[in-house]
Amino acid sequence: MIKQKSIDSVMAAVRIEEVVGDFVSLRKQGQDFVGICPFHDDKNPSMHVSPRLGIYKCFVCDAAGNPVKFLMEHEKMSYPEAIEYLAKKYGIPLEYERSESDEERQQRTLRESLLFVNEFAQKYFVDQLRNSEEGKLMGMAYLKERGFMDATIDKFGLGYCPDGWDNFTKAALEKGYKEEYLIELGLTGKSQSGKLYDIYRGRVIFPIHNDAGKVIGFGGRILKKDGKDPRKYVNSRENTIYHKSDTLYGIFFAKNAIHKQQNVYLVEGYTDVISMHESGVENVVASSGTSLTQGQIRMITKRTQNITVLYDGDMAGIKASMRGIDMLLEQGLKIRVCLLPDGEDPDSFAKKHRDSELQDYLAAESKDFLLFKADILSKEAGNDPIKRASMVNEILKSISCVKDNIERAFYVKECAKLFDLSENDLNMNLRRFVWEKTKEQSRIAQQQQLQQGGTTPEQATTEQPVTPDLIETKKHPDASQQTDLLYEAEKDLLLLMLNYGNLVIYEVDSNGENKEGLRIDQYVCNEMEKENIRFHYALLEKIFDKYVDWASYIGNQDQIIRNFTLSDDPQISEFVIRNIPVEEPRFSDRWKEKYDIHTHTTRNNLRILQNQVQNILLTLKLRILENDATIIQKILENKELTEEDMSLALQQLNSINQLKRDISKRLNRVVSR
Ligand code: CTP
Ligand code: MN
Repeated sequence: MIKQKSIDSVMAAVRIEEVVGDFVSLRKQGQDFVGICPFHDDKNPSMHVSPRLGIYKCFVCDAAGNPVKFLMEHEKMSYPEAIEYLAKKYGIPLEYERSESDEERQQRTLRESLLFVNEFAQKYFVDQLRNSEEGKLMGMAYLKERGFMDATIDKFGLGYCPDGWDNFTKAALEKGYKEEYLIELGLTGKSQSGKLYDIYRGRVIFPIHNDAGKVIGFGGRILKKDGKDPRKYVNSRENTIYHKSDTLYGIFFAKNAIHKQQNVYLVEGYTDVISMHESGVENVVASSGTSLTQGQIRMITKRTQNITVLYDGDMAGIKASMRGIDMLLEQGLKIRVCLLPDGEDPDSFAKKHRDSELQDYLAAESKDFLLFKADILSKEAGNDPIKRASMVNEILKSISCVKDNIERAFYVKECAKLFDLSENDLNMNLRRFVWEKTKEQSRIAQQQQLQQGGTTPEQATTEQPVTPDLIETKKHPDASQQTDLLYEAEKDLLLLMLNYGNLVIYEVDSNGENKEGLRIDQYVCNEMEKENIRFHYALLEKIFDKYVDWASYIGNQDQIIRNFTLSDDPQISEFVIRNIPVEEPRFSDRWKEKYDIHTHTTRNNLRILQNQVQNILLTLKLRILENDATIIQKILENKELTEEDMSLALQQLNSINQLKRDISKRLNRVVSR
């Protein structure tokens, strides 16, 4: 865990416009910046970035948040990842809580050590490739012969491991890297007789990077065709830092392009990725010869929903890989396929054609996966009725994986045409598959619930009971519920404090003279104390308490607001970000209709603001009384109430109603009730 102190220093340094600006191009507009919102499809700059508040806010799609939220949403980072990213960006050293268990710490340091060893190995292999006679003669010559450019070799960090017994291992041990780490990483092997040897000897090295660009493993391709070793590739084995199922070759070099193009090409191998890069197609990753795992899919879906699978012309391969694709459909991915001409893989095709030809081919030949599959199966089944029946079912099974109803209907329509069947018949069978799937899913969900045991989150957070003094702690009102007037009143008071708390107003005494000036927040606190007003909503109360605390020593109102928007309590930051106006004029619209004032002049118009303070406080008192009245009425509905309690309650209700009338009069408006 990162120490709170470190998080605070990061938050103090971060500038929202610099964080968002790394991903979205921003234009200055007044105090703020605007840019095209990356969270929805747009052509207009609907996203506002406010350095004053430390937040971004889109006025179309409602995306809003602080720098951390931006990274979490846009880059799909976890909270600690986002903090670490920002710390790096602003050069702030992070300290970690010692509360990390011994085992965790060991794991972390083991991870770090292993990454360190890999970094050394990678540099060693590059050095061998470029500077040793053997490397140049064997490795570099091979790569050149395959047509790879120097810049690409450099970019992907390709290298060479000499064909001796233990050149690499010796060099690593000499530098002080531990034998056990070299073995754990699969760089070094140990023979029966205890001799250490280089696993990758005589191979061209393809470093495998994680999506942060760290080398987590290696693929080594054999050069000698006459050698005794039959393995074309040697790959890192599973270890603490390398998990094949969570690795996509090329992801680090592709991620920006994937995001920009909103599509990713999926190919099989190292050389396919590299050759496509050379042809100017950078949104490409390789699954390294197997169908995608859940972990790999997640790496894709956090960046785009669109994937195009590149197939070489080999039919058996295509059919084998199709089975894995249903899983992608279930994740809601939009899948297209692109079939390369017979005998070509992306590598060879890219090498044979000019860049524009590859790009044009991809654009022209990419087809919707399900229609592609239906077409292939249909051709294959020919006129054989039994084959056709099983083909239809196979396609329907795939269609049932599609989550979206409208999309499903589209596929049914297309397949009806293709197979010359009625949509009705297809739909009937499709429902069966969908039904079976739902049953399966609920079975799995039930099982998980049983395994977890215990309560659901809703059950865990019990509401506090009504306390005798009629204050009840309320949960945040449900958006679907009718707006709660008490909540609105408490919120208005809180927003008044946040926006204008540091402004000074002048109370008028009974002689009509101005008394000494008082800050609005101090005035509100005094009033609340005098009248014994408390917040009923736990979250609002928490924010209020924090405000009072901060206002006691932070002079700058904007700084107080930033403390809230940057709070690591997501409920707090979310509430403030949602409710704080980015631009004051926008705020005025609401206030204007509500109170008939122009808020953007409010800061200069203290007399009006002063009235508003009164207005908001009185409204809140009224709402509290109404709330109390409702509670008492509920008590009165209780049949078991004693005579005495009943009259006491009625008395209370009477005095509440009297107070309500007084306040209504002061508010100068009729309250319907
Ligand atoms: N692969 C592997 N082990 C093998 C064969 C293949 O790990 N014995 C993986 C590698 O990730 C490889 C991918 O599957 O990149 C695709 O295999 P293949 O097409 O045979 O290799 P290419 O990378 O295309 O190599 P080349 O073009 O040199 O044949
Ligand atoms: Mn190949």
